[in-house]
Amino acid sequence: MGLLELNELSKEYRRGGTAFNAVNRANLSVDPGDFISIVGRSGSGKTTLLNMCAGLLIPTAGRVFFEGEDIHRLDDREASFLRNEKIGYVPQGQSLLSNFSVFDNVSIPWFLFRRDGDVEGRAFALLEKVGISHLAGSYPRELSGGEMRRVAIARALINEPRLLIADEPTGDLDIRTTAEIMGLFSRIAKGGTAVLIVTHELDTLNYGNKTYSMEAGTLLPHVA
Ligand SMILES: Nc1ncnc2c1ncn2[C@@H]1O[C@H](COP(=O)(O)OP(=O)(O)OP(=O)(O)O)[C@@H](O)[C@H]1O
Ligand SMILES: [Mg+2]
Repeated sequence: MGLLELNELSKEYRRGGTAFNAVNRANLSVDPGDFISIVGRSGSGKTTLLNMCAGLLIPTAGRVFFEGEDIHRLDDREASFLRNEKIGYVPQGQSLLSNFSVFDNVSIPWFLFRRDGDVEGRAFALLEKVGISHLAGSYPRELSGGEMRRVAIARALINEPRLLIADEPTGDLDIRTTAEIMGLFSRIAKGGTAVLIVTHELDTLNYGNKTYSMEAGTLLPHVA
């Protein structure tokens, strides 16, 4: 069994009295070192899928296994620990805590569970990797959209996750910064962490080892 396994995963939503499957019986296997991209039109179910992979949203049917464990059967504490320790998540849109500095935003996940180690050194090294160490003392309101996105990426990596999930991580970045971030994700994957991202078609051509497309809730291997 892979690091992450989706088994016939579905999410049904209701809108105006009608039910529809935002995700429809998705199957996916993610191994350590994989760099998987998912492309698809707006509203096709990509964020819904990622949220279920991260244990943030309960599926209507099907299962999510992480290291062989059904993540929706864990109790609250076990699920929180799994998300904090093993899964780094870069959500779509703004997700930073506005009253905390960039440095604190990156470090916070480290402090949620008892840990030993040099969190300061790690946080600075990550900020350097994403190219914004000069902004360590700044606050989210003082950053551009792309800078905020890079803080969220550093934050997702602070606990050295086994799986990095990122929802349109380069959506508001220029071509060069996009290439840098995708290069960083490639290196992370080569280091053994699995990377699962939702992205734009063009971004994925030179990166990643597997591409899927999401079409009206159905996940399929992508044909270029
Ligand atoms: N809580 C909800 N209740 C009802 N419908 C929802 C809910 N959340 C999302 N949807 C609908 O489910 C579908 C999939 O949404 P989702 O956010 O997963 O799409 P997406 O592929 O991530 O889109 P985008 O590229 O715009 O981010 C959309 O039609 C959306 O309107
Ligand atoms: Mg989305």
